[in-house]
Amino acid sequence: SITEEQKNIVRSTAPILKENGKEITSIFYKHMFAAHPELLNLFNQTNQKIGTQPLALANTVYFAAENIDHLHVLIPQIKLIAHKHRALIVLPEHYPIVGKYLLLAIKEFLGEKATEEILDAWAAAYNIIAKIFIDLEQQLYDELGPDERDKGFVPLTIIKKENIASGPIVALTLERRDGGKMHNYHPGQYITFRIKKDGSFHNRHYSLLEPFDGKTYRIAIKDEIDQEPKGIVSNEIIDNYKEGDTILTSFPAGTFALIQDAKHHLFIAGGIGITPLSSLILELHKKNQIKSATLIHCVPTKEHAAFSNELKSILPENQYLLFCQGEKLGKDDLQKFLTPDTHVYICSSIPFMNKLEDYLAECNHPSSQIHTEVFQPSLSVLKN
Ligand code: HEM
Repeated sequence: SITEEQKNIVRSTAPILKENGKEITSIFYKHMFAAHPELLNLFNQTNQKIGTQPLALANTVYFAAENIDHLHVLIPQIKLIAHKHRALIVLPEHYPIVGKYLLLAIKEFLGEKATEEILDAWAAAYNIIAKIFIDLEQQLYDELGPDERDKGFVPLTIIKKENIASGPIVALTLERRDGGKMHNYHPGQYITFRIKKDGSFHNRHYSLLEPFDGKTYRIAIKDEIDQEPKGIVSNEIIDNYKEGDTILTSFPAGTFALIQDAKHHLFIAGGIGITPLSSLILELHKKNQIKSATLIHCVPTKEHAAFSNELKSILPENQYLLFCQGEKLGKDDLQKFLTPDTHVYICSSIPFMNKLEDYLAECNHPSSQIHTEVFQPSLSVLKN
């Protein structure tokens, strides 16, 4: 538990820590990985390098501290993180370790200013948020049922590997051959691959492409050859995995989903961001509600537009729009498709998403009707 006085301390020190979040969490990761190198198998080394993950963790603890009296406002974010933690097999015993090194980092950063009161207050705040995560994640593990194997990574076999668009973008179809069950999921969710490279494990999430067929999972991977740093997992799979090979996978997770009773759905995808949206569109099709859907897909060229034939053939006429490089998607284009009832789903790079969110705000579109899925730690790029 936390006292009123401790809450005040947390609130008053949060801004200093937030301002220096990057530095503090860098200290945190340095010490934690030195003491627990096994945790390198869990954390995304690329996000570490580009500094997004440290900010995500720090921001959440500060957010929680700032909102400690009304944590329910954070529930959507908390659920999203709990799903990601479960996908990565974060366990209760990891929390005291993260807590210990986060406090050590705060202490080291504050130096002489780190009084016992401040550190105790932060420990109390951390314990509250940690307990919320541990309980929620336990529920998610329980939902996977009694087979203990299913609560970790399970080898799935690639039964099909195909090139589906320029990029290149490669689709994989996977099935389970160890006698266990393939778990159901809702469109919008992802599965997580774990591969070993250069001595440690690397984990990455891939959106499921279509509603569950009862037997297989299908995902798409884009070659990140031009990215710096390169997509370690994506490139390894594209270059070196073939049909018949197995990939360690954890079962579907994620909170991104269709708003079931919406009258109109506007999907906006940037490049490979089409993957979770395609799944939602196919769900509408399956439910005979495709008339309520519009898709805007922004791509470098037509050849980069994955699933274009299929989506074009099921979407209503004039409700499939491709914007190729050079044709800028503007506020006016969006406005044409917005009604007061429209729910907007965006999956793209963060800069493009921010721009779209600005346009939607200018159109006075309610933020409660905007749903985003990002392929980077989402709290790493806070506005304000
Ligand atoms: C991801 C917060 C505890 C491991 C994240 C994200 C946040 C977060 C905000 C990014 C989610 C996203 O948008 O993708 C927290 C908070 C914690 C906590 C507030 C404590 C109260 C832990 C623990 C572990 C852990 C105990 C395990 C040692 C991870 C990993 C990721 C992640 C591996 C994936 C992101 C990456 O590797 O880049 N966490 N977390 N977290 N968390 Fe936690």
